[in-house]
Amino acid sequence: MSRSRTAMLAALTLVAGGTSMALTAAPASAGAAAPACTVDYKVQNQWNTGFTAAVTVTNNGAAKSGWTLKWTYAGDQKVTSGWNARITQSGAAVTATNESYNGSLATGASTSFGFQGTYSGTNAVPAAFTLDGVTCNVDTGGGGDNGGGGGDNGGGGGDNGGGGGTTDPSGRVDNPYVGAKVYVNPEWSKLAAAEPGGTRVSNQPTAVWLDRIAAIQGVNGGMGLRAHLDEALKQKGSGDLVVQLVIYDLPGRDCAALASNGELGANDLDKYKSDYIDPIASILSDSKYAGLRIATVIEPDSLPNLVTNAGGTNTTTEACTTMKANGNYEKGVSYALDKLGAIPNVYNYIDAAHHGWLGWDTNLGPSVQEFYKVATTNGASVNDVAGFVVNTANYSPTKEPYFKVTDTVNGQTVRQSKWVDWNQYVDEQSYAQALRDKAVAAGFNSGIGVLIDTSRNGWGGSARPSGPGPQTSVDAYVDGSRIDRRVHVGNWCNQSGAGLGERPTAAPAAGIDAYVWVKPPGESDGSSSAVSNDEGKGFDRMCDPTYQGNARNGNNPSGALPNAPLAGHWFSAQFQQLMQNAYPPLP
Ligand code: GLC
Repeated sequence: MSRSRTAMLAALTLVAGGTSMALTAAPASAGAAAPACTVDYKVQNQWNTGFTAAVTVTNNGAAKSGWTLKWTYAGDQKVTSGWNARITQSGAAVTATNESYNGSLATGASTSFGFQGTYSGTNAVPAAFTLDGVTCNVDTGGGGDNGGGGGDNGGGGGDNGGGGGTTDPSGRVDNPYVGAKVYVNPEWSKLAAAEPGGTRVSNQPTAVWLDRIAAIQGVNGGMGLRAHLDEALKQKGSGDLVVQLVIYDLPGRDCAALASNGELGANDLDKYKSDYIDPIASILSDSKYAGLRIATVIEPDSLPNLVTNAGGTNTTTEACTTMKANGNYEKGVSYALDKLGAIPNVYNYIDAAHHGWLGWDTNLGPSVQEFYKVATTNGASVNDVAGFVVNTANYSPTKEPYFKVTDTVNGQTVRQSKWVDWNQYVDEQSYAQALRDKAVAAGFNSGIGVLIDTSRNGWGGSARPSGPGPQTSVDAYVDGSRIDRRVHVGNWCNQSGAGLGERPTAAPAAGIDAYVWVKPPGESDGSSSAVSNDEGKGFDRMCDPTYQGNARNGNNPSGALPNAPLAGHWFSAQFQQLMQNAYPPLP
């Protein structure tokens, strides 16, 4: 016995079969517009508990370089294995994504895949299919929607259930951290607890960094994403719990530095989508995890690098110029926002660097425009964005307690001090709040919030000032006041003198969703000298304590601790110093 939708789709299968070029070429002729995609689902063989099926997808929209077809069964069908597509199932919902070799689907082109499954009772053909969020087999009503997957919810369905609306129909809460515990990563916790005095902090929540494709399954026998989520379910109990994931594997990653260059080349966008984001999205959409609140930090440093380091200034790098020109950071971030934002319990936070990077109006204005562009193109929408995260893996203080940007000394603004250098902000909280307001003004939802990474911005210990500096000059005043003891605000690698900052806290201030520890304290920012490795990581001299700097740190000494291991590897001496200089101090 064989069941098929073919009969219902007689006219359309002509197109799918390629026998009617005229129809394909002119789908937009008035009135009877063609569907953006057509799907032919045929049960080929069926026995009492099992079946095989063949599916042919035809794309009538814009050409695609990758595709995802979804459907939901009315019965209890379960896909057990597939071919020519990667098929996952969560409850009754099935997701089929292209293999690396059949991702490209030109306008009018078809591709087929198959699978075997089990069922009981009837084995009805699914009633509806979506291709990249757009409903197939349904006329678009005269619009001639050749935009297929290109538009923002162009098919009226889209990932956020309607598109265009300003409210979030997914049931997300305004601030996921309120009333919730936050996941303690057992692997980090163990490393911290093994350090003398480490148990004072080892029960703090830190983010899980998915810093390479292999991290999804687990590196060197370590926990993969499912293992973390399963553990998170245990920690959650009957309450609410936030799991923090860092999405960090863009093509051509870390284009202005070398320490965290990644595994994907500048042109590996398809691989990023199919081998990194899609598998993460498929795990996160498992109904088993629907009760977790999943906060994602989306691609640290990437969009800021496009704004400040990709052309026309003395901080420009060739790698960032390449990533701006090929559009793969933008397309990758849009894709991540779209795919992860389609999962109702995921909260996407876009990385927005820190005040010492984007705090000048001439950087912040264009950055907000860039964030908005990426959040509203390539399938993403502002409804995919819960907010922003600042200070990821950086050292900028949450608050400078002893001076403000509006202070003056002898009639001169502190903005003209060497340290502030005309920045509009002197700390992260003021920067985060301003960023939030500007983002809302640019078109982001008014409910967005900002996370501040406070893992290493405490600046306590004996070098911490206890009050404002002398009023003899703006420089003396600022240098005497500032708790940030870096040589220069552009320094970022294993900063000497840093301490743990505020412990993770929900809703600490207006517009701030939480203080979080994104960078796990004790994990290195980069090696002090070249170390050969298979992680794609380079040697950045900003991690070498003898380096005298470059344009991005005003040609100042790097301020880095010596003897550091590769980025992400455990750096015991740094962890000890972070505890030593914690502020608030540790017991
Ligand atoms: C750096 C490393 C990465 C690590 C992360 C957190 O970005 O490149 O491998 O996971 O820091 O420590």
